[in-house]
Amino acid sequence: MNYDSITELYEQQYLSYREDLHFYRRMAQTLGGPLLELGCGTGRLTLPLARAGNEIVGLELSPKMLQKAQEKAREKAVAEGLNLELILGDMRTFALERRFKTVLIPFNALMHLYTLGDQAAALGRVHHHLEPNGNLLFDVYVPRFGLEGVLRHEGETFFAEHGSRTDVWVLQRIDPIKQMAYTEYFVDTTQSSGMITRQHLMLEQRYFTRFELEWMLRASGFEVLKVWGSFEGEPLENSSHYMIFQARKLG
Ligand SMILES: C[S@@+](CC[C@H](N)C(=O)[O-])C[C@H]1O[C@@H](n2cnc3c(N)ncnc32)[C@H](O)[C@@H]1O
Repeated sequence: MNYDSITELYEQQYLSYREDLHFYRRMAQTLGGPLLELGCGTGRLTLPLARAGNEIVGLELSPKMLQKAQEKAREKAVAEGLNLELILGDMRTFALERRFKTVLIPFNALMHLYTLGDQAAALGRVHHHLEPNGNLLFDVYVPRFGLEGVLRHEGETFFAEHGSRTDVWVLQRIDPIKQMAYTEYFVDTTQSSGMITRQHLMLEQRYFTRFELEWMLRASGFEVLKVWGSFEGEPLENSSHYMIFQARKLG
């Protein structure tokens, strides 16, 4: 799916989301670089990882998401001499000259690979671009959904300086056979005059089960080293929100 239309909302919603940063920063330090982040979005993690002293390449499919990351990086990279490169590309097909010690696919980016062919192609590209014994790290949501067909407030209201407020409403539909979650966003911006404008956006995510991912990784030439249920390193349990994988390239 194309994140171009969702870029502004993404920035607003996840501007301060940092739950995963300490995990990726610590793992990058332990496993070593250079790092390649696939689906790097607006650079939410890419920039702090670069700022922590890592050499990192961020690859992103959406030109608008990438542009946001580049704008942020331009100031920082010049000011702080960061070792950072941001490129437009598709994780299913990209081909770079160089190899990486660690590949990251954070924050559900894999959930945009909808077919077995897409998933195999992306993992094949990761395998190709990793150094021998290099590591792949990624996280996806544990599939657990709220009430279907019920319009829910996202829980956060964004207040702008000029007096407007933005409320985000979501409506979700699950297709268990296709393992797809379809989320409709209704983004309501209310001006101080009371005038409301509504933007309608769609998010499509393929969800995964734990052992499906383990098989996918095995079939793509990886050994699964760890599966965590939280960024604090807790084991994966029924109550976990995330599935976090560390897999090592074989061969
Ligand atoms: C949920 S966002 C995560 C962004 C970023 N990793 C973060 O942690 O904030 C998923 C990102 O994956 C990107 N994406 C989806 N399919 C992709 C593909 N085939 N190749 C590269 N990026 C892709 C989307 O455009 C989006 O920016």
